[in-house]
Amino acid sequence: ENIYVGVDLGGTAIKVGICNEEGQLLQTYEGPTETSKGVEAVINNIEKYVRHIVEESPYSWDQLAGVGAGFAGFTNIREGIIIFAPNVGFKDVPIRAILEERFGKPVKIDNDANVAALGEAWSGAGRGVDNCVCFTLGTGVGGGIIINGRIYQGFGGMAGELGHITVVPDLEAIQCGCGKMGCLETVSSATGIIRMAKDAVARGDRTSLALADSITAKEVFDAAKAGDEVAMRIVNRAAYYLGKSMSSVAAVLNPEVFIIGGGVSKAGDFLFDEIRSVFQKLTPEPLQRGVRIVAAELGNDAGIVGAAGLHLRS
Ligand code: BGC
Ligand code: NA
Ligand code: ZN
Repeated sequence: ENIYVGVDLGGTAIKVGICNEEGQLLQTYEGPTETSKGVEAVINNIEKYVRHIVEESPYSWDQLAGVGAGFAGFTNIREGIIIFAPNVGFKDVPIRAILEERFGKPVKIDNDANVAALGEAWSGAGRGVDNCVCFTLGTGVGGGIIINGRIYQGFGGMAGELGHITVVPDLEAIQCGCGKMGCLETVSSATGIIRMAKDAVARGDRTSLALADSITAKEVFDAAKAGDEVAMRIVNRAAYYLGKSMSSVAAVLNPEVFIIGGGVSKAGDFLFDEIRSVFQKLTPEPLQRGVRIVAAELGNDAGIVGAAGLHLRS
């Protein structure tokens, strides 16, 4: 029996998992990325965790038929090169070739949000749907476009970088990690939400957030749910630009389902109701018909399943 290992590389943690040929997740393991130690150390960690999970499993290294990996950053998925990943510190790293050499196994790589979208399309919120678009809200804002059950790749293999849709008006725009101004990621990521909260506190706005030592996105959502007006304004702003971006995507692709994943999506109905209402307000009625905006279902495992599945279903 063959197995596949999926790797989900994020800014803080590397998650790995073993899948069987049916794409069922059998076992997971996770360790620190150690971004600050540099590219070589991060690659060593990937190798270490993959070898470790196979050793701990009932399977042998010979049964490992391939490794799939998703990376948070602009990734040329056809050439297997990470072009630019500010949150992980990678620049022009030919990661597929490096990992194939280390493992002596076929390796497929993709963007982290693309593989999460693929995982959701196969066995999560996008099951049974031909076309869906996924947004992941975490340290950054990721995106994945699934057309006829497959990841849409684009010219440079980088399609679906939905966090870098330019939505914030020039006068309010701030610089994104990508170097440009006004990206969705600057307002709708956890990082953006925390920044807006800190700015409000620094300005002296009256908010319960002023009492926190260090503000997390969860605290901002909890404060908003408890009726804190400053926190509500921040959450609404994050939701507004997401709904607005979705409206543009709907006009371009007319997908059946929008899936929202990542840590920030755990904020629940409070966030989703606002996103849906903005989407309804801005999108032409025919482009709304039958379209659903739903939460991701696979949680933290979407990336691992999608990455392992690069060998099975693409
Ligand atoms: C990166 C994407 C990534 C997303 C989520 C963005 O800043 O540009 O490649 O998918 O963060 O990790
Ligand atoms: Na993407
Ligand atoms: Zn950007």
